[in-house]
Amino acid sequence: MKMLQAMMLFVATLVMAQANAAETMTDAQTEKLRERIKPVAEVCVQGDDCGGPVVAASTGPRTGDAIYAASCAGCHSIGVAGAPKKGDTAAWDKRLAKGFDKTLANAISGLNAMPAKGLCMDCSDDELTSAIKFMAGRK
Ligand code: HEC
Repeated sequence: MKMLQAMMLFVATLVMAQANAAETMTDAQTEKLRERIKPVAEVCVQGDDCGGPVVAASTGPRTGDAIYAASCAGCHSIGVAGAPKKGDTAAWDKRLAKGFDKTLANAISGLNAMPAKGLCMDCSDDELTSAIKFMAGRK
């Protein structure tokens, strides 16, 4: 409790010191400060001519390789809790015997210790498909 009070006092002192510093700035200093923060303060909205090409937010679907490395390898590389291992075609053959769609559906909704979407919540069905094909050795 003492520690918390001391910290709050410290923060309050900092804030007051900052406020004092701002008050004692000359007009020239204020102008300089405005100049310095300007690029950050300016917002470029899509459709505006902001002097450069608009960078697309999405770069298209990620590869199965990339999805596997980022989200699935944690369990599927060494077979955590019975997860079929990457490249273990025999294990994957058994999984896929029920049909690819059913296997994909299990990956999407989760199956026992397999979490829904392998915890890749922003993965599209296509990206999960690529990751499964990559792990199962079916490009
Ligand atoms: C937390 C560990 C874990 C992660 C992360 C994980 N999996 Fe799994 N996965 C498992 C386990 C365990 C099983 C076996 C489940 C069972 O049959 O009981 C499994 C099974 C599967 C199966 C077979 C489903 C079936 O119908 O037999 C697929 C497909 C699959 N995972 C895809 C993925 C994909 C794609 C990712 C990454 C996006 C992923 N997994 C990430 C643990 C994981």
